[in-house]
Amino acid sequence: MKGVILAGGTGSRMLPATQVTNKHLLPIYNKPMILYPLDTLKKMGINDMLIISGKEHVGHIIGLLGSGRQFGLNLSYKVQDEAGGIAQALGLAEDFAKDDKVTVILGDNIFEDTFEVSDFGEGARIFIKTVPDPERFGVAEFSEDKIIGVEEKPLAPKTNYAVTGLYVYDNRVFDFIKNLKPSARGELELTDVNNFYIKSGKMDYKVVQGFWSDAGTFESLFRSSEYIKRKSDSDKNL
Ligand code: G1P
Repeated sequence: MKGVILAGGTGSRMLPATQVTNKHLLPIYNKPMILYPLDTLKKMGINDMLIISGKEHVGHIIGLLGSGRQFGLNLSYKVQDEAGGIAQALGLAEDFAKDDKVTVILGDNIFEDTFEVSDFGEGARIFIKTVPDPERFGVAEFSEDKIIGVEEKPLAPKTNYAVTGLYVYDNRVFDFIKNLKPSARGELELTDVNNFYIKSGKMDYKVVQGFWSDAGTFESLFRSSEYIKRKSDSDKNL
């Protein structure tokens, strides 16, 4: 299993904090954001990771993480020349993945839960969680307990199950990405990739336990910082 951290995008929702650096380097309480998804993958036993970011600030990320030696990891980097969506970014990981499966995490997703993927065979897996504001996310739809579709940021969400920014794919993901068409927001969407897997009957899912948030808006960044501070205070009191 290989790991991919998607840390691109223009950070336009977080200007001016992202004017001179990458969103994924903003601090969540006491650490740069990207260290949290890095740790989530590491705890899954994944040591080989590719980090994909835009050309403007990828040097800052390399400056922070280097080869990964200090974390006991083997890190590689790839540049996404223009922000064309997270699925387009993942497409750049094809050579890195070779014939392996990939666990993909969005660089702004903060999870308390830890995950096990050694049982993953083929197809795809998503990780879902109930939220009060599903319209901000990809949203899963079910028939009984089977996922029958995901919708990207629907105006009228069919459930309150958000699709979190953690995904496991077999190697077919790269063929699916080649067949994608840009969405209404002009991007190649992982939601469309997920619907390919759902249609071919090869999607399973897990429900995320504990705290989860993205940190791609000032509100969610603040919420994430509060959670990490609370956690670090309670760890100190143990
Ligand atoms: C992305 C995905 C969305 C997912 C979310 C999780 O949204 O497109 O499906 O629910 O990450 O953080 P974005 O961060 O691009 O708005």
